[in-house]
Amino acid sequence: MSSISIIGLGGMARALAERALASGHDVEVIGRDPAKTEELAAALGSRATAGSFGASPAGDIVILAVTHAGGVPVVRQYGDALAGKVVVDISNTFVGADATVLATPEGTSGAQEIAKAVPAGTHVVKAFNTVFGHVLARGSRLDVFFAGDDAAAKATVAAFIESLGLSPRDVGGLEMAHWLEGAGLLMMGLARSGAGFDIALRAELLG
Ligand SMILES: NC(=O)c1ccc[n+]([C@@H]2O[C@H](COP(=O)([O-])OP(=O)(O)OC[C@H]3O[C@@H](n4cnc5c(N)ncnc54)[C@H](OP(=O)(O)O)[C@@H]3O)[C@@H](O)[C@H]2O)c1
Repeated sequence: MSSISIIGLGGMARALAERALASGHDVEVIGRDPAKTEELAAALGSRATAGSFGASPAGDIVILAVTHAGGVPVVRQYGDALAGKVVVDISNTFVGADATVLATPEGTSGAQEIAKAVPAGTHVVKAFNTVFGHVLARGSRLDVFFAGDDAAAKATVAAFIESLGLSPRDVGGLEMAHWLEGAGLLMMGLARSGAGFDIALRAELLG
């Protein structure tokens, strides 16, 4: 098992941290408020630690669990402290109250904007944005769709997803992050149009 760093202290950070800890990983949580960071680490138990915001994260995998608007500023602030890490962008990028529009136009995505902001040699993988946090927290096997350009980084993330008892579903290169972010809209539309929020997106593999 390995060490995972999670930047962000919200619902997704907590759900991912709990699932990673339950699967035997060590988890470092990192927030911009040191007191809130210590509080979450303490609540997560003895294998969770509180990291310092902006310092080099302990984990080889760094999950960016902040809002879409926070993603690029956070990685810019980290700068070379993220060198050599695999950065996992989990953000949904919809704007507006009704969640029907993406913040980024076709041809780019939140993940691709983050990829432009990380140091050279640091790879970004989009993952987990199609999974609702409260559903993830239940511990059942879910499909986790992911996209990225670097084969080794994707293999690392796929192994991490698998280690959590989840099914990794590779959808292609990082340009596919736009459509994963679109799938976030699809989930919101489905939830709001009668299905409710206790739902998960799954690929039925028939072969
Ligand atoms: N909720 C879901 O079911 C779900 C599902 C899939 C993907 N996502 C995505 O996962 C990400 C986190 O969602 P969430 O539900 O956990 O949100 P949340 O509960 O609102 O937490 C957001 C976290 O981001 C931090 N943050 C925001 N801007 C920041 C900045 N500039 N620098 C440092 N930290 C910053 C906040 O820090 P402070 O506490 O200091 O404000 C907070 O800890 C979002 O991008 C969301 O779209 C969410």
